Amino acid sequence: MFSKEIYIQRRAILRQKMGSGLILIPGNQESPMNYTENTYHFRQDSTFLYFFGLDLPGMFGVIDVDNNLDLLYANDVDIEDIIWMGPQKSVAEQAFTVGVDVTAPLEKLNQTIERAINGGRKVHFIPPYRAANMIQLSSLLGIKTCKLKQYSSLALIQSIVSMRSIKDAAEIAEIELACATGYEMHVTAMKMAQPGIMEQQIAGILEGMALSKGTGTSFPIILTQNGETLHNHNHSFPLEAGRLMIVDAGAESNGHYASDFTRTIPVGGKFSQKQKDIYNIVLAANNTGLSLTKPGVTYQSVHLKVARVIAAGLKDLGFINGDVDEAVASGAHALFFPHGLGHMMGLDVHDMEDYGQIHVGYDSQVRPIDQFGTAYLRLGRKLEPGFVITNEPGIYFIPALIEKWEKEGINKEFINFEKAKSYIGFGGIRLEDDVLVTETGARLLGKRIPIDPEDVETVVASGRN
Ligand code: GLY
Ligand code: MN
Repeated sequence: MFSKEIYIQRRAILRQKMGSGLILIPGNQESPMNYTENTYHFRQDSTFLYFFGLDLPGMFGVIDVDNNLDLLYANDVDIEDIIWMGPQKSVAEQAFTVGVDVTAPLEKLNQTIERAINGGRKVHFIPPYRAANMIQLSSLLGIKTCKLKQYSSLALIQSIVSMRSIKDAAEIAEIELACATGYEMHVTAMKMAQPGIMEQQIAGILEGMALSKGTGTSFPIILTQNGETLHNHNHSFPLEAGRLMIVDAGAESNGHYASDFTRTIPVGGKFSQKQKDIYNIVLAANNTGLSLTKPGVTYQSVHLKVARVIAAGLKDLGFINGDVDEAVASGAHALFFPHGLGHMMGLDVHDMEDYGQIHVGYDSQVRPIDQFGTAYLRLGRKLEPGFVITNEPGIYFIPALIEKWEKEGINKEFINFEKAKSYIGFGGIRLEDDVLVTETGARLLGKRIPIDPEDVETVVASGRN
């Protein structure tokens, strides 16, 4: 948690941006796993964390813009809670640590909201993503759960996006902590990438490392030799010499800021020439992405230039025919690179994705491109100093996609389908770094995880018994 002044200031800025109304910021509640008392690992809502800082279930923040007041609604613990969970600070004591002076039990929240609605005041909320919060908001506001998104506040979303998109020094320090854990996790995965080890063994160790340094992983670990499946959470295979293992994993700091890195590792420690040829295209794409990242350019333009690097490299290897610019304009590269270059990262690994990606990654000037592949780009708009983003190009050989494009003749003038089909079973390669946009360009966050193929081979070899 940051100092109380940070939270006071954030709420003051939000009040100023909004001008009037009542802002509702629900915290998350405990979420049952298989029965009420056996809950999932608690994860506080990121918007609540940003404005109210408290990492506890069952709290509800209210920012009353018209009366210049911040309020925290929550119930104090009773003797039963103390018996099972130990002594706890009162709600008022908790609220004091984040600069909130007014607290009340949850049952009073109804009255506050009713009074505001009856007084003709505007009540602002962001679209809830958890069923429990949908039900709570629905009953507080008298809006059907299916209509909550429609009645959520665009002005509130835009105001918060403008704040959370720019990370301050304290936030960057938290992200660097998450990156340091991510570094350790990835180097450990490289050392463990030896034939015979189960994918699950490595994934479990990485998960434990994230928990031992912070609040756990920032998303479920992707660790697989079947890396052509972009988000493959199946860890059930033994490692086989000569295959590639993708590890896409990140950690959360104790303050819940994320890291998100991907490396692709040769099991046993030696890339074949065939693997290295593809790897070096992805590495060039990653380095190009970093070198083009600076304030004032759109990430959409960086994505398209990186797509061109991938297409040019694949043309050299005989996968793509014809003019490279025309191939990219036609979306032919997306057979091999069917996702976006990156996304915002902060309190969420895909930062603020709960608000709706269009409000976070795009604006009135830069609109999404509706073409397969580029349509998945989560961040397209102009970069500004203080943005934290990922740079994650990849090349994959996805049997079902190759088959579909060949059958339907999609981009047939650009694709050498025979060559593409000969790589089925190769898997996929993705290389992801976390990047801070600075005043003059960009810098990597955290120490760079080994990425040059020779360095990766050296780390894998160092893990051999
Ligand atoms: N690293 C997972 C993702 O960006 O979707
Ligand atoms: Mn990512």
